[in-house]
Parts: sequence; C-alpha cells; structure tokens
Amino acid sequence: MSESVVTETVAAGVMQITMNRPDRKNALDRASYAGLIAALAAAEADASIRAVLLTGAGGCFTSGNDIKDFAIAAASGEGPRIAIDFLTAISTARKPIVAAVEGFAVGIGTTMLLHCDLAFAGEGATFRLPFVTLGLSPEGGSSYLLPLVAGAKKAAELLMLGEAFGTEAAMQAGLLNAVVSQGTALDHALGKAKALAALPPESMALTKRLLKRGTDNAVAETIAIEAHHFGERLRSPEAMAAFAAFLKR
Ligand code: COA
Repeated sequence: MSESVVTETVAAGVMQITMNRPDRKNALDRASYAGLIAALAAAEADASIRAVLLTGAGGCFTSGNDIKDFAIAAASGEGPRIAIDFLTAISTARKPIVAAVEGFAVGIGTTMLLHCDLAFAGEGATFRLPFVTLGLSPEGGSSYLLPLVAGAKKAAELLMLGEAFGTEAAMQAGLLNAVVSQGTALDHALGKAKALAALPPESMALTKRLLKRGTDNAVAETIAIEAHHFGERLRSPEAMAAFAAFLKR
C-alpha cells in the first residue's frame, strides 16, 4: 500500500510533503494526518531543512477530511482530535511553508492555506468551505483568520454559503500569493521555497515569528474553541445525514 503522505528533499534545504491518496482526491484520513504531523515534525527537527513545500498528488491538493473517517470518528466518539493536532502543528510551525495547489482544495484543504506562509495555485483550482453544508462548523482557526484576511462579508459568504470558488476569488480572499498556469503551481512554489531556503535561517525564523506574533494566541484559542464545537457537530443528526448522503452517492 502506498503511503498517504510522502516526504522527500527536493532541493537543498527544501522538504516536499505530498498528500498522496489520488484515488480519493487526497482526502485526509487518520493515517494522512499522522503522516502530515510526522512530516512537519521531521522538517522542524532537521537543521538542514529550511523550507517546506506542501502539495497534493495527481493534480489535486486535497478534498479535505475523509468523509468516511468523519462518520467513523463521530460513531466512535473519538472526534476530530488528530485533525486538530495537525492544525496545531501547521499553525505553530517555525519554518516557512509554501503551498502548491492544483485541482481541489476543500474544507481543511482551504483552511490549511491560512497557515501556509506562501500559497500558489494553478488556474482552474477550486476551493470550498462546505462546513455548514455538511452540518459542521468552521475549523482551523478559519472563523478568526478568514474575516481578518478576506473581510467579514467575504468570510461570511465563503463559510456560510459554502459554495465552490475559483482562483480569482481565492486571490481576493487573501488565500493566495499568485495564480499560475495550470500544472505549474508546484514548479512555481518550489522556486519560492528554494529562495526562502537560501536566505539566512535565523532571520527567516524570527521574521515568521514576528509576523505571527499579533495573531498566534488568538489562532490557538480559536482552534480550540472551534474543535469543541466541531466535535459536537460531528455527532449531530445534520452531519450524520450529510455524511450518509455523500457516502451513498
Ligand atoms: N472523503 C472521502 N472520499 C472522498 C472525498 C472525501 N473528502 N473526496 C473524494 N472522495 C472519493 C469519492 O467518493 C470518489 O470515490 P469513488 O471513486 O469510490 O466514487 C473518489 O474520491 C473520487 O472523487 P470524485 O467525487 O469522483 O471526484 P470529482 O472530481 O467528481 O469531485 C470533489 C471532487 C472534491 C469535488 C468531490 O469528491 C467532493 O466534493 N468531495 C467531498 C469534499 C468534502 O466535502 N470534504 C470535506 C470537507 S469538510
């Protein structure tokens, strides 16, 4: 069985982390979250790694949390713990993270972009925050960070209506640095990751810390509050019905 998260050093000082369940549009199950958490920890622990490149296999970023796993987590009472651990890891990472998005970035696939320092998407990429649609509630600090980067009205539109949106709207919402030709997001992001990796690492780490200083406490608090509600929503009849409908398609 192939690994659901693959890590490799793709250039001097750059670790690429690839979400790798292409037959499921890289939906994140528990093994994927564990792989992402381990990969981020490995990048943090390895002094030779100076930048992280985050992407998905098969022309897709990620379709978000595996809905089958949502149903299992709800039934077992386990809740979203491991997803929250991943969100904590990515939101507190000390090294710069660059995202390369092609295809779909759904749910946590969009909210994780709020925690990447740079993000590039290929034309045609599609984003969506379908938490309410699924009977759930916002996660990943998005109820705090999205109004901040996108503005209150845009955040309400994206989080309440849960409609899919394209790269232009994602740019306007502050989720991306640039839109590049379809199929070139990874190349483009790699170029930026190499540039970050070539710069003085202590200065880089300090700059990242200072950029996050004004929001990091609120982000941590929001992730915890959202996790509480999300855990409750997972078990709600509204969510159960939405999961069943998706799995029955
Ligand atoms: N969880 C579990 N399985 C998923 C999944 C997810 N989040 N996303 C996709 N898959 C599965 C599909 O069920 C399908 O399985 P099948 O081949 O056995 O039918 C396979 O991956 C391919 O997906 P498909 O829906 O056929 O691809 P598509 O290109 O038509 O659509 C998406 C892609 C991402 C728009 C669509 O799969 C989707 O909406 N997924 C759910 C996204 C979601 O709600 N995530 C949770 C957010 S909180």
